[in-house]
Amino acid sequence: MTKKFHCATNSNFPLKGNVKWTSPSNIALVKYWGKRPVQIPANPSLSFTLKNCFTETSIEFEKAEKFSLELYVDGKKNKSFLNKIETFIDRIKEYCPYIFHYHIKIKTTNTFPHSSGIASSASGLSALALCLVSIEKKALNLSDEEFYKKVSFISRLGSGSACRSIYGSIGVWGEHASFNGSSDEYAISFTDISPVFHSYQDTILLVDKGKKEISSTVGHDLMNNHPYSSLRYNQANNHMVQLKNILKSGDLFEFIKLVEKEALTLHSMMMTSDPYFILMKPNTLSIIQKIWEIRAERKLPICITLDAGANVHLLYPNNIKTEVLSVIEKDLIVYCENEQYICDEVGNGPKLIMEHYA
Ligand code: DP6
Repeated sequence: MTKKFHCATNSNFPLKGNVKWTSPSNIALVKYWGKRPVQIPANPSLSFTLKNCFTETSIEFEKAEKFSLELYVDGKKNKSFLNKIETFIDRIKEYCPYIFHYHIKIKTTNTFPHSSGIASSASGLSALALCLVSIEKKALNLSDEEFYKKVSFISRLGSGSACRSIYGSIGVWGEHASFNGSSDEYAISFTDISPVFHSYQDTILLVDKGKKEISSTVGHDLMNNHPYSSLRYNQANNHMVQLKNILKSGDLFEFIKLVEKEALTLHSMMMTSDPYFILMKPNTLSIIQKIWEIRAERKLPICITLDAGANVHLLYPNNIKTEVLSVIEKDLIVYCENEQYICDEVGNGPKLIMEHYA
């Protein structure tokens, strides 16, 4: 099945070069939670690709007798992330064998602080995959379609959610009969959506900027012996169909119901795992409650979603941005750590900044 992503090295591979990409983070509306080896999702998921939270990564590579990697994060040589990248490289070795003929210097930086509690694996691993597979695109003359598909496939092996960041405005990952061309191995772009979603806003209210106590990887694993897992996977599959229709119609009332149900189900899976755990903090709940109050009072189409952490993503259409931002300043920043929040919105996916081969 994965054979199509294997690749042979040949003499067209460049001697050296440099490539730079930016790749965004994403926020899932239907959540991926539960997987089997290797990085195959237990259910399909769908996310908004973001615009402002992104990773910028460049690689400088040169043919060498022996493969080696160097990593710079925010301009400083870094060892701790290097281990993660080496694990990733090892996982993709059969699909990107050409990497091992180079010395590669990776330089990477995020637009959002590492300590913001925003996962950087989706943007970080997709940005690196874009850079690495660019070498192959050049040597083997891949079409754009082949290139992005392979990048999404490679990103998935690094971090599941990363494979959805390859496409704006919406990425769908996981095989589902209602989504033509969908696959467990890579994400596809989904474009049949009402214009209201092209500029949808995501203001991330930073409740807890600390490191998560339980990693996503552990959380995914706990779904394997979870008493409610098959019900949850069925629900996610049904939500994909419902959300497809909602995204097309632009029915924000239905959108809110489905998106919040997904977020709370994700966290209820965590709370009912064995061992159980809670990633929300008291202020996560205070924010949710306040948002529900404001929504009822002001009749605003605002809703929340959560990823595997305590921060709250506040989602709303662009036309109420001014009003929502003033509500945030007045009623919500008191619950944010150091009154911090990040304004983001739906974006168009990765951007090639520079490429040069010799
Ligand atoms: C709750 O993609 O971080 O954000 O594949 O182990 O790297 P790994 O997990 P990861 O899980 C994301 C979980 C989520 C939901 C989602 O983004 O769909």
